[in-house]
Amino acid sequence: MNKIGIVGAGNVGATSAQRIAERELAREVVLLDVAEGIPQGKGLDMAESAPVERFDTRLIGTNDPSALAGCNLVVITAGIARKPGMSRDDLQATNADIVGTVSEGVRDVAPQAIVVVVSNPLDVMTYVALQKTGFPPHRVVGMAGILDSARFRFFIAEALDVSVEDVTAFVLGGHGDSMVPLPRYSSVAGIPLTELLDSATIDAIVQRTRDGGAEIVGHLKTGSAYYAPASAVAEMAAAIVRDKKRILPCAAYLTGQYGIHDLFVGVPIKLGAGGVESIIEIGLTPEETTALQKSADEVRENIAKLEL
Ligand code: LAC
Repeated sequence: MNKIGIVGAGNVGATSAQRIAERELAREVVLLDVAEGIPQGKGLDMAESAPVERFDTRLIGTNDPSALAGCNLVVITAGIARKPGMSRDDLQATNADIVGTVSEGVRDVAPQAIVVVVSNPLDVMTYVALQKTGFPPHRVVGMAGILDSARFRFFIAEALDVSVEDVTAFVLGGHGDSMVPLPRYSSVAGIPLTELLDSATIDAIVQRTRDGGAEIVGHLKTGSAYYAPASAVAEMAAAIVRDKKRILPCAAYLTGQYGIHDLFVGVPIKLGAGGVESIIEIGLTPEETTALQKSADEVRENIAKLEL
């Protein structure tokens, strides 16, 4: 019986709860937030959509962390979001405190849970969650690669005027300005992307993907993206609770893979009921390796600034 906790009832948390409920990925979804009334109101509003949307997932909105007891999956979205001109890294000090406190609560109340971290800066916050829960690394994983790849796929489909369903694409590295979209591992119905688009077009799409989060912040001004991030969360939840063993790009704790040690960085993993069931190492060109290392170095530098 799946019970999924979502910590943070802001736009990302609430939309994730909605997607998870509408896909009936759990018997019960607990939406938890410190703000009084917000999780209760959003939870009830979503619950009242159930007869029309036809889902039987129960939605509970609460301010009580003990309601996470029994969750086999907890998604941490808590924290502040970016405003225009801010990088994800500008959120670090504030969000490290919030994610740290939340993680200690998860450790105490839902000690068997798999934790999916969504708060930014993503790769650093996932590290905070690992430290503060003390969970084994395969049970702590960050959401970013699916979102970044979804943006990459959308832009490719738009450029070619083809169905998004036929486009697969890969983005590695940290969820920051140095993320590493990989055109060489991207294809349309199995046809390598490099045979379908010229390199100038691909370069422009790669850059737009890197700037994808900031582009949305630039429009919204008071916050950051949440529809596509919530879709990525639901994709990860489905892989875990249905034990699908999907191969997805996620932030996983590396212990030497790709020459990277003791850091969360976006890489292809097998995601199933056991959490991160394996980390897949793909061959990279020297340029791709350098780009991945640079991205990992930035994550490492930010972790060094943490006071855990
Ligand atoms: C983004 C933020 C949420 O990429 O990191 O939209």
